[in-house]
Amino acid sequence: MIYFDNSATTRPLPSVLDTYRTVAEDFFGNPSSLHNLGDRARAVVEQSRGQIAQLIRAKQNEIYFTSCGTEGDNWIIKGTAMAKRKFGKHLITTTIEHPAVRNTMKQLEELGFDVTYIPVDERGFVNPADVKAALRDDTILVSVMAVNNEVGSIQPIAEIGDILEDYPTVHFHVDAVQAAGKGVLDMLRHPRVDFLTFSGHKFHAPRGTGFIYAKEGRVIAPLLAGGGQEKDWRSGTENTPGIAAMAKALRLTFDDEAAKVARQQAIREEIVQHVQQFDHVHMFSGLGKDFAPHILTMSIGGVRGETIVHAFENEGVYMSTTSACSSRSGDESSTLKAMNVDSKLAESAFRISLDEDNTMEEAKQFEKAFDKVFAGFNRMRK
Ligand SMILES: Cc1ncc(COP(=O)(O)O)c(C=O)c1O
Repeated sequence: MIYFDNSATTRPLPSVLDTYRTVAEDFFGNPSSLHNLGDRARAVVEQSRGQIAQLIRAKQNEIYFTSCGTEGDNWIIKGTAMAKRKFGKHLITTTIEHPAVRNTMKQLEELGFDVTYIPVDERGFVNPADVKAALRDDTILVSVMAVNNEVGSIQPIAEIGDILEDYPTVHFHVDAVQAAGKGVLDMLRHPRVDFLTFSGHKFHAPRGTGFIYAKEGRVIAPLLAGGGQEKDWRSGTENTPGIAAMAKALRLTFDDEAAKVARQQAIREEIVQHVQQFDHVHMFSGLGKDFAPHILTMSIGGVRGETIVHAFENEGVYMSTTSACSSRSGDESSTLKAMNVDSKLAESAFRISLDEDNTMEEAKQFEKAFDKVFAGFNRMRK
């Protein structure tokens, strides 16, 4: 099997699962309990928080644990809206955000908030000047993703951050769910970025884990009210084993990051070189440094993306249409639509998403599968 669907989810690493199991068995106390089993579990949570903070060059008190990327995005956006609604009701985002951001914005619009959606160019990039032009006196939040999950475009976060230096009260949120281990940490740590969302299952941690970075001094309202965990910001008994496993997975993800990024770039390039020899192959992702190393979205003229996904599945290659979420719902790709791609062409898009554990050998096997699948479709065309 060749697993090329890493943007949908990654395979949990065996050593990470070992950590999960050990912590679940040996540190099962509730971190809020007063006895020493509680103390031991709390120590694991705080040690993991410290490790994650160090890895992303933040302070320990700037990391809050969540259950997934969707929760992090919802929390930061709704939490800003609730905390800052007295100062303004205007939010800015883009037309290519993941539904976790897009649909949260839609909910806020129904509640009377005003949202500006910044368009992208035909390659999938936001123009920072458009963000500047959209800022108003009543703007409370700018939310722009780091790496687009459908085509891999890396958004100009640092440039937008520079613009926001002149708007110190506006919260700046970056959805970094597709960005962990992809060589963009310096960009994410621009001093003007206030909030980041991460999701554990995108970097080999177990499902049901995630964290946000919230810059010291920035305040959002809790999404989950209750027993007051996470300094009263995110109630719910901490997922101690998941948190410890996620900290380990993040450490392993950042180990030797540059070499892993270079390997993914090389595999992507190899695949592009091969498939570009064929007529009717259209690329939506670019190969330059402004595209993340792991995402490659393309189409084979006129054949529906889901048909291609299943044809490759028959060859033992697993991938998605443009995103795992839109695959099942059959929804049109919102990013390709925002890029002004013709809807027929957009329907034929499929996404290869790589990770550090993919190899050049797998790329070669993929190419053989591609030749076979392509020949099959070509026969049908004739
Ligand atoms: C950019 C982006 N944001 C948010 C999410 C949602 O993350 P999760 O699946 O952990 O809820 C995803 C998932 O694919 C994503 O790609």
